[in-house]
Amino acid sequence: EGMLTQDRPLAGKRALVTSGPTREAIDPVRYISNHSSGKQGHAIAAALARLGAEVTLVSGPVTVPDPAGVKIVKIESADEMLAACLAAGAIDVAVCAAAVADWKAAHPVTAKIKKQNGVPPPRLELAPNPDILATLSKPGPTRPSLVVGFAAETENLIANAVDKRKRKGCDWIVANDVSPATGTFGGERNTVHLVSAEGVEDWPTLAKEEVAVRLAVRIADHLGRPRPA
Ligand code: CTP
Ligand code: CA
Repeated sequence: EGMLTQDRPLAGKRALVTSGPTREAIDPVRYISNHSSGKQGHAIAAALARLGAEVTLVSGPVTVPDPAGVKIVKIESADEMLAACLAAGAIDVAVCAAAVADWKAAHPVTAKIKKQNGVPPPRLELAPNPDILATLSKPGPTRPSLVVGFAAETENLIANAVDKRKRKGCDWIVANDVSPATGTFGGERNTVHLVSAEGVEDWPTLAKEEVAVRLAVRIADHLGRPRPA
């Protein structure tokens, strides 16, 4: 029994992971999106599953393979991602690794917008998307005991991440530098910092799989802890 709980410390726990980009339709052939390979989010889902968690992975369009041992729900838009997350039901831990488009087209159309000689380019009006991380972080009886977000920044990484943790209401933020020179987007490695109420922990540059395993182990430690009185 001891061995079992050591190998699968997340047995009996339910996890939700978001991964990949979202796609916001402008018309049937055009969309707004973000850079995101899904490598980090998918690796986190796989790592949580290997530690015994029952994992729902809500993913936007990616080319990385479906990880083994997780329930995968494929979506396109941020609205669909939020609906899929809420449909996952009661969860113990949520990890939001998706690169959600902040805005969608205010008036998407069902017929392809055509170019016409002499007509100026269309103006694209945007509307805000729901914030999935902030929604999952809202205090209440159904809030997961641990909510983890990511902060992909190109400058003022730590200050932005500390601020983002407070603004979103999540427990931890995994902060990573995504400046083009780092090669993080689509790359195999990631240099992250774990921001929590306790402070900031700098992790070494690791393969995205290793970041995932380390985060999953930290999540298991946290959920295994006796609850504060
Ligand atoms: N996120 C989300 N839903 C959104 C936007 C972001 O769930 N509509 C989550 C991301 O998955 C990530 C975290 O929030 O875990 C931070 O995303 P980020 O884009 O860095 O933060 P924003 O609040 O959108 O701020 P900005 O893009 O202006 O830096
Ligand atoms: Ca954003």
